[in-house]
Amino acid sequence: MRVLSTNTRYLNDVVNEYAERLAATLPAPLRVVYLVNSASEANELALRLARAYTDARDMIVLEAAYHGNTTSLIDISPYKHAGSGGNGAPDWVHVAPLPDVYRGAHRDADAGVRYADSVAEIIKRIGKTGRGLAGFIAETCPSVGGQLVFPSAYLASVYEHVRRAGGVCIADEVQTGLGRMGTSFWAFEDQGVVPDIVVMGKPLGNGHPIGAVATTRAIAMAFDNGMEFFSTFGGNTVSCAVGLAVLDVVRDEGLQEHAREVGVGLLANLRSLAERYSVIGDVRGSGLFLGVELVRDRETLEAAGAEASFIANRMRERGILLGTDGPYHNVVKIRPPMPFTESDAELLVEAFEQSLGELPDVLKE
Ligand SMILES: Cc1ncc(COP(=O)(O)O)c(C=O)c1O
Repeated sequence: MRVLSTNTRYLNDVVNEYAERLAATLPAPLRVVYLVNSASEANELALRLARAYTDARDMIVLEAAYHGNTTSLIDISPYKHAGSGGNGAPDWVHVAPLPDVYRGAHRDADAGVRYADSVAEIIKRIGKTGRGLAGFIAETCPSVGGQLVFPSAYLASVYEHVRRAGGVCIADEVQTGLGRMGTSFWAFEDQGVVPDIVVMGKPLGNGHPIGAVATTRAIAMAFDNGMEFFSTFGGNTVSCAVGLAVLDVVRDEGLQEHAREVGVGLLANLRSLAERYSVIGDVRGSGLFLGVELVRDRETLEAAGAEASFIANRMRERGILLGTDGPYHNVVKIRPPMPFTESDAELLVEAFEQSLGELPDVLKE
């Protein structure tokens, strides 16, 4: 904190070091890093980058998505603009179906490609209006969408359609990044794709406010159009030092591998609960990013939203914080801190089972 903190137009060794360390965690074309103060700021910047590069405005987003709290981000967040107090999507925002293989329209082996086809349909419709496509944005595993894991080939196929139409592909890795999935450092790696823009936030500072955007040189050059981007606090010396410390800890303590190992056991134990409690319709996710979808009937998949909320409240009384989400609010989200241990996981499953045992027979919404 004793180092002079100015704004991002003046470079400082710690800013350069952090940007380089962050870029080194990403695949080769993503070599330009912008530092901001929150993931909302990062997604805002991603929108501007996409528009500067494509000279187009329209965006394709996923149903139930959340990307941040600013005016434009509410516009691209159906979770907000289609929910309480929302005014719907503006004409430049096009909402594609959530690729949900549990309760969505496509559940077979070809679901990834079939869901991507609906993005292609939207692109066709945008084309007919004579407008251009700026890009496609999605969380690599939608969280408020219900802790979903995309079917294989989904992102690869969507990215192909989007790029063919001249748009850019933005991965919102705010929740899924930094090794949380266990199987990858950035979740898009599991889908075998490389986005044009990656948005990062939440865990970067382990509680300290840091947001970041990584992109290709070509996109950064298009954005470098004379307007000049800077941030007073984004990339400040303290935040960069914090960011570096977080990257060190994630690497030195092997947190990605740790998340993978603890997640495998937790997933298996939650799945064994599903054998005994029919209210559990689906258990999914990987690493420390898991979801338990509750249903009243495994055939009709009637959503058990009140039951999910009951479980979350009982868990809270037991000192364990879990959220509920998904379009029907019936998915219990499990995203513990990264040092979460196997014995923490055992405690969680035990408390989950006790809470399931307390579920009343009839719960009304
Ligand atoms: C996927 C995703 N993107 C963006 C944001 C916005 O992040 P922030 O609250 O840091 O602005 C959030 C916040 O919950 C998020 O979950």
